[in-house]
Amino acid sequence: MTDDDIRGPDKMHTTMTESDKGDQGTGDPADVVLAKSQAQMAEIASRHGTNPQEGKEVVLGLRDVAVAYSGTPAVRGVNMDIHKTLVTAFIGPSGCGKTTLLRSLNRMNDLIPGAVVDGTIHYHGHDLNASGVDAVEVRRRIGMVFQRPNPFPKSIYDNVAFGLRLHGMKDNLDDRVEKALRQSGLWDEVHNRLKASGLSLSGGQQQRLCIARALAIEPDVVLMDEPASALDPIATQRIEDLVAELKNDYTIVIVTHNMQQAARVADMTAFFSVDVNESGSRCGVLVEHAPTVDLFTRPKDERTEAYVTGRFG
Ligand SMILES: Nc1ncnc2c1ncn2[C@@H]1O[C@H](COP(=O)(O)OP(=O)(O)OP(=O)(O)O)[C@@H](O)[C@H]1O
Ligand SMILES: [Mg+2]
Repeated sequence: MTDDDIRGPDKMHTTMTESDKGDQGTGDPADVVLAKSQAQMAEIASRHGTNPQEGKEVVLGLRDVAVAYSGTPAVRGVNMDIHKTLVTAFIGPSGCGKTTLLRSLNRMNDLIPGAVVDGTIHYHGHDLNASGVDAVEVRRRIGMVFQRPNPFPKSIYDNVAFGLRLHGMKDNLDDRVEKALRQSGLWDEVHNRLKASGLSLSGGQQQRLCIARALAIEPDVVLMDEPASALDPIATQRIEDLVAELKNDYTIVIVTHNMQQAARVADMTAFFSVDVNESGSRCGVLVEHAPTVDLFTRPKDERTEAYVTGRFG
């Protein structure tokens, strides 16, 4: 893997000047870099197939979902289905509501004062926000991994066992902890120091510990918000490899700023943008949700095309 693969579109943006932002194919070196990178992404994305969602059960169905903070809309009008055992990537410029929408998928927005979620989100056909639905149980089934590794100041073992104890899953605790650490690819590195602090691990190991913590309680869906953005290239690759393995058993939604990463890991990709109205108010919108290969090679919307070809950040 090259450095360019890791840095993806950010690298492309830094190679562009104002005059590059016109038509492609002028022979300008920046255009050549873009075209090459674009072709590479398309090739990688094509490995996920042209119709990955076909025949797959819908795990999360979003209808007219909107989220506002203290009355200010952050994202609105989101309609999409998220399918079982696929990886779905959320991409789009900063502030378009990726994290906000992700947090609404497991009721994490409940914890943010002033956040209001409208529309409906069905999880296996059940309204996630219906009265009587227990948000703690929702979060047991739909786990989350955050942008920055956030182990608790506890031992490696206790980090993984934390959710198990919380949810009363105390039978075979040792076996469950080992299984989760094996699933997250960390067991070989930590099995002889399970009593050491989780904070003594490297950044990449800490993130895999957080993934183990999320997996231990046997979720159905794992939400990941830029899980590799704070990691070096090797640790990033380990996370990507892990995502590829985990999708055999889990439904994964991953936010990424790195389009190369979306092309590598995601079967489906959703592109979000920011609408600015006449009064200058900004709000995130879902522009296009499609098999990753289609989104990168034949986007239907010109905003998607501008973003994936690196003409808009
Ligand atoms: N806790 C919050 N309180 C108030 N406004 C918020 C809060 N979190 C996000 N917002 C606002 O909601 C909008 C969407 O933010 P969000 O963090 O979801 O974007 P994002 O696409 O994840 O951006 P980034 O790529 O930078 O992480 C932004 O205008 C942001 O300022
Ligand atoms: Mg975010």
